[in-house]
Amino acid sequence: MASFITQSHCTVTTPVAQICTMRGRRILLIVGGGIAAYKACELVRLIRKAEGAVTCVLTEGGAKFVTAMSLAALSENPVHTTLWDLKDEVEMGHIQLSRQADLVVVCPATADLLARMAAGIADDLATTLLLATDKPVMAVPAMNVRMWQHAATARNVARLRDDGVAVMEPDEGAMACGEWGPGRLPEPETILAGIRQMLDAEPVAAEESFAALSASTIPRQFAPALDEDETAAAPPAEAEPAPPLEASGLLLPKKGKARAAPPTDPDALDRNVDAGPIAEGPPNDGPLRGCHVLITAGPTHEPIDPVRYIANRSSGRQGYAIAAAAARAGADVTLVSGPVALPTPPGVRRIDVESAREMADAVKASLPADVAIMVAAVADWRTRDVAADKMKKRGSAPPALILTENPDILANVGASGRLRPQLLIGFAAETENVIANATEKRKRKGADWIIANDVSGDVMGGHANTVHIVTASGVESLPQLPKDEVAEALVDRIAAALAAD
Ligand code: CTP
Repeated sequence: MASFITQSHCTVTTPVAQICTMRGRRILLIVGGGIAAYKACELVRLIRKAEGAVTCVLTEGGAKFVTAMSLAALSENPVHTTLWDLKDEVEMGHIQLSRQADLVVVCPATADLLARMAAGIADDLATTLLLATDKPVMAVPAMNVRMWQHAATARNVARLRDDGVAVMEPDEGAMACGEWGPGRLPEPETILAGIRQMLDAEPVAAEESFAALSASTIPRQFAPALDEDETAAAPPAEAEPAPPLEASGLLLPKKGKARAAPPTDPDALDRNVDAGPIAEGPPNDGPLRGCHVLITAGPTHEPIDPVRYIANRSSGRQGYAIAAAAARAGADVTLVSGPVALPTPPGVRRIDVESAREMADAVKASLPADVAIMVAAVADWRTRDVAADKMKKRGSAPPALILTENPDILANVGASGRLRPQLLIGFAAETENVIANATEKRKRKGADWIIANDVSGDVMGGHANTVHIVTASGVESLPQLPKDEVAEALVDRIAAALAAD
């Protein structure tokens, strides 16, 4: 996705696959705290590959995500972490460090770092250097979407831009915390293009750059960076991979009214989800022909240890019936399914997942869609820590499970901006105040319709369902029907709504 530096004199409009020639240019790279910090390692590698020199300053927060050793190995320069590293002012004072670079790059720039920069605070090495420098400064933000959109952050970014700092626009996409929107760190190649533009160096083709690299005699300060293979072969020099979700202990996606997740980068969570083959089906010539319909179905399983999980009673039947009916109506159907014992309906592309976060990833990977119908009974909570080994009885108190909230997939699709489906439908499993709760849920989750069903009987796991279709213009209650007929009725109404638009 394209990113833009919005300072008027430098607008990057193309994420470039080119290598920038930066021979002899010096970058002071301030690595802030956030999971996107791991991408700073790749940025260092790219700068070195482009023959630039880079000196890293690692903030206290940044050091929680990447090590000074990795940055030192990749940059082939000492990494500075505290003001007190520089107490030998004769050899390397902080003023000198701030000014010996051609460009100061803050990447990732967290909300906190942007705020401190905007306020002119100088209470650590990074902010002191930023205040002391007389060189251009470029900031590459990465944070949770709500933090990026918060009025305070917008104010700080505007102030920094007024002060002459080039603040890149973050990329837009799914957050690791399950939310969608702007806040992702742009790809390192895009950041490199921004740096090159700031340095006003001309890009050249990669082959030329590599030829120049091997043909020149380069002093140690500008020695060629390791190539990819060498980098991979040298253990201490490897870029840090994204920290595993559980190990980081920081990625605690929230839903509903829970507090916002900390700054995260979704790439750390990205998983490739292989969509299964489309089962043989009828020709697509019904009223939903040409529509991509995305459906979630079934329960989710939230692991406790290798043998235990948290689950619910959902059989997946209603979601599968809707997928089958939509396919019969000619739709191109993607069914993201939790663990169920049901065959894939004809004409349906099925993606199997287990946990809520896997379901969120698969939904994200399946967008865009014209219609999304979230039928899954997503577990609201998962255990914060998953035991690597089977938990054993210790003969004393049972273990305490600490729960944390799962991402709200429906609400996040509802807030996904241009990726939001034209028609977004949720289900509401209620045991009391069915319509009132569903009406409130429709608004809270940003859905167009909520299909409310009373699950106080044996609906979950059963074959029949009594539903109420709650829309902005009212409530339509259907009689108790087999789940297949509920699905047909729903697909009829979806086709009518799309035709009316
Ligand atoms: N849903 C979701 N992600 C979640 C929880 C629910 O996408 N983490 C979706 C369901 O697929 C359904 C709708 O939200 O379409 C409502 O689910 P429900 O379980 O009834 O609502 P909750 O948000 O869990 O609210 P509560 O449990 O407080 O009633």
